[in-house]
Formats: sequence, structure tokens, C-alpha cells
Amino acid sequence: MDPIYMRYPNLTRYPREIEVEITTRCHLKCLVCEHTYWSDSKYSKQDINYGDFVKICEQFPKLSFINVTGEGTCWLNKDFNKILEYLHKRNIYILMVESFDLFTKERVDKIFETDVNRIELSLDATTKETYEKLKVGANWERVMDNLKYLVAEKKRRGTPFPYLFVRFIVTSENVNEIPAMPALIHDLDLNCGRKVSIEFVGLLNFKEIEKYNVACIPVDIIEQTQKNAKKFGVTIIWSHTNNNMYSIDYCAKWIQPYIMMGGYTVLDCALVMANNREYLKSISPGSLLEKNFKDIWYGNGYKRVRHSVNQKNKPVPLYCKGCRGANTSCREKKYGVHDYMVAECSKY
Ligand SMILES: C[S@@+](CC[C@H](N)C(=O)[O-])C[C@H]1O[C@@H](n2cnc3c(N)ncnc32)[C@H](O)[C@@H]1O
Repeated sequence: MDPIYMRYPNLTRYPREIEVEITTRCHLKCLVCEHTYWSDSKYSKQDINYGDFVKICEQFPKLSFINVTGEGTCWLNKDFNKILEYLHKRNIYILMVESFDLFTKERVDKIFETDVNRIELSLDATTKETYEKLKVGANWERVMDNLKYLVAEKKRRGTPFPYLFVRFIVTSENVNEIPAMPALIHDLDLNCGRKVSIEFVGLLNFKEIEKYNVACIPVDIIEQTQKNAKKFGVTIIWSHTNNNMYSIDYCAKWIQPYIMMGGYTVLDCALVMANNREYLKSISPGSLLEKNFKDIWYGNGYKRVRHSVNQKNKPVPLYCKGCRGANTSCREKKYGVHDYMVAECSKY
């Protein structure tokens, strides 16, 4: 439906898909994650409690999909088991993004018990040395053992779920390991004989990590990776690698709100990894712990935002400025940026 919603935003139905930050606690200090660079340490010790989580979810009566991740490691929120149980009761498709560094037998049991549908594994290397340099604090052998244990349990229980998907963030430190990923993923057999996809993703850049950015992946690396993917039967997705981002004119991320810690809603998770959370809070239309999302969604300001995101000849909504997932600069240069939430902009 995304192309239809982009063309006719009036037809967009009230969101049924959301991403909610479960915690900002993380035991890792990943080299390219904004979490590592937060100057205000209070950010890195926050959890959503069960009551607030339910309060947010209840604002989406037809919720059918949720990404329970955000910026931390979900298991560090002591209410996480209860959160999974609640989502399971509501029969909602559950997605988690995970390093697999903190999996235990009990946590794996919980995943099966609550029918977690999909886990996106963050794996940015094929060697212990590179992996531990990038994901500081994680342990390569532990992650490999945890993955093998989950796959063995899937086989023992005779289920293809949770479906595993692999995400590899491309940096100067791991670009040479890209071609070896298909063989590693094939050997791990993450989907028990079914195909696995590996998404290679360009860095969402901010000042502190610019030095790790790869402007252009060498062609021989791409060719070798495609060859290996064919040989080992894995699917490859190249996602805004080579710093080529699709235009905001074609962005449909606004259909799935991202809810930051404190209930603050923003349009897209690509905005978040900018190491600029206070700013994001300041332009958020509000916290869902104080306001109901329905009032935001059906309010005139937010409607104007939805009507302008994909319009080629309109200013870029303030909400989208600074997005690193989609290119806003061409439209910004031609038409500027506008805060559609303010009343004076009714002409837009
Ligand atoms: C912030 S992590 C949180 C989940 C979990 N702790 C993990 O390691 O997967 C969510 C995802 O963001 C990715 N990520 C972190 N920093 C990034 C950056 N600068 N650009 C693009 N993706 C990034 C991670 O690789 C991971 O796949």
C-alpha cells in the first residue's frame, strides 16, 4: 500500500505498525552507534515500564506489527518478558533487532513462548577480531554459540520462526569482510534450510563517526559478494550503501511512527541515529504518555506534514530535515524547510 499512501496521503489509514524504544540500556559500546557518544549519561539508563508500554500500544487498536528495539538491548529492561507476553496476547507480529550477545536459555524459551516472528541479527563482521573491535563488549564465540542454540531449538521444535534476517553496517573497518558473509551465513543455517537475507547498510552518519564512513564500496567487493551469494544461496540487499540515498519524495517511513523513550513520537528511525535526541524531542508533536496519538495523527499540523513529505514541489517538513535514510537536500535547496505544525502554514 505504501505507493498509494505516498501518492494519496488522504487514504493513509491510522498506523498499525510502530517501533517503540524498550530501553536505552546497552552493555555494548559499538563503534558507530550514537549510544556510545551520548554526552548526557542519563539517556543511557532509561526503560519504558510495562504500564507506559501498554498505555502507548492501546492507542493503536489495530496494531498488527511492532518493532521492539530502539537504541538499547531489550533484555536489559526488567519488564521485557511481560511486554512480550502482552504483545503475544494481542496477536501482534513482533520484530526484535539483536546482537545475540545476551541470549540465555530462558530468553530463547520466552521467544518461542511468545511467538516472536522475526529477529534482525546485527552482525557486522566475519572474524572475531573485527567483530569485537566494532561491537565493543560483545564476544564473538558467545554470539556464535547463541545463534547455534537458537537454530537447534528451531529445529527441535519444528518451527521456522523466529525468521532470522541479517544486517551488516558497512564501515571502513569491515568493508573487506563483506564477501565472506554469504559463506558464514550459509554455514549458520539460520532459517533451517530456508533462504536468509543479508542487508548491507550504509552508515547513518554523524560527526563522531564520519571517519568510518565508506563513500563507495569497491566494485570487486560487490561482484565477489554477489558471486558468493549465488554460490551459498543467500539473498543480498544493498541499502543506501555508496552514500546513495533515495529521495524523500519516495519515502514511506512516516507511515510507521517511531516512539522514543518518554513516549516522544518521531517520523522515522533514521532520524534517531544522529546523536541529537534533545532536538528530536523538541520537534516531536508530543509524548504519548501525555497525549493520545489519535489527536496527533488527526490534527491539522500532522496532516499537513503527511501531505507534504512526498510532494516534489513542497518544502521539506521540519520533521524530516536531517534524515540520513532519505535525501532531503535537493528539495531543501529548491523549496526550503517548513514547520507544518504551526498554524500559519495553512497555505501548504
Ligand atoms: C542501535 S542497535 C540496538 C539493538 C541491539 N543492541 C543491536 O546491537 O542490534 C539497532 C541497529 O542499529 C544499527 N546501527 C547502529 N549504529 C548505526 C549507524 N551509525 N548507522 C546505521 N545503523 C546503525 C545496529 O547495527 C543495529 O542493527
